[in-house]
Amino acid sequence: MTRPSVGMEIRLLADVPAAIPALSEWFHAEWHHYDGRSIAEIEAQPRDCLNRDALPITFLALSDSEAIGTVTLDTSDLPHYDHLSPWLASLYVLPSHRREGVGRALVKHLAAFALERGISPIYLWTPGSTRLYEECGWKVLCRDVYSGRNIALMRRALEP
Ligand SMILES: CC(C)(COP(=O)(O)OP(=O)(O)OC[C@H]1O[C@@H](n2cnc3c(N)ncnc32)[C@H](O)[C@@H]1OP(=O)(O)O)[C@@H](O)C(=O)NCCC(=O)NCCS
Repeated sequence: MTRPSVGMEIRLLADVPAAIPALSEWFHAEWHHYDGRSIAEIEAQPRDCLNRDALPITFLALSDSEAIGTVTLDTSDLPHYDHLSPWLASLYVLPSHRREGVGRALVKHLAAFALERGISPIYLWTPGSTRLYEECGWKVLCRDVYSGRNIALMRRALEP
């Protein structure tokens, strides 16, 4: 467990499985226009991520026991790029808690988890959060188009 700032903690989703319906609603609202999946289909995703020391694994940011953000380390995340793995995926922070450092804390927590296990490099794709990830050590690998939107593929080789 990590406490990046007062009142906020990061835990395994495996410790807080009751948060799965909330995560599914977040993911549906934020990303269904990319893949068209229903909430029921999306709910299967976090259920696969209840691992404690294996991939896929999901971390949850909590504030006063309320789920406010999440991030996942997954084996795949982008069609046509399955030759690259693993991926930082599904980074999401509740709008009411954005710009408080929660997103950055989740990314750093995931990176520390990976570093401890020698998992490197880690890939991700993003339409618009390049700067946040660059500040956390990722570098743009290439650019592509996904579901009609320009995206950047990024890579971070973890240094001890
Ligand atoms: C992208 C996302 C996860 C960022 O989460 P966040 O908790 O707001 O991230 P942080 O607070 O760590 O940093 C975001 C910004 O707030 C700024 N910030 C951080 N703490 C701050 C504070 N105390 N006061 C003011 N600004 C702050 C950061 O500098 C950063 O600024 P920048 O975007 O200009 O670089 C969030 O906006 C989100 O969930 N978006 C929708 C889903 C999404 O796009 N996910 C990413 C997919 S690749």
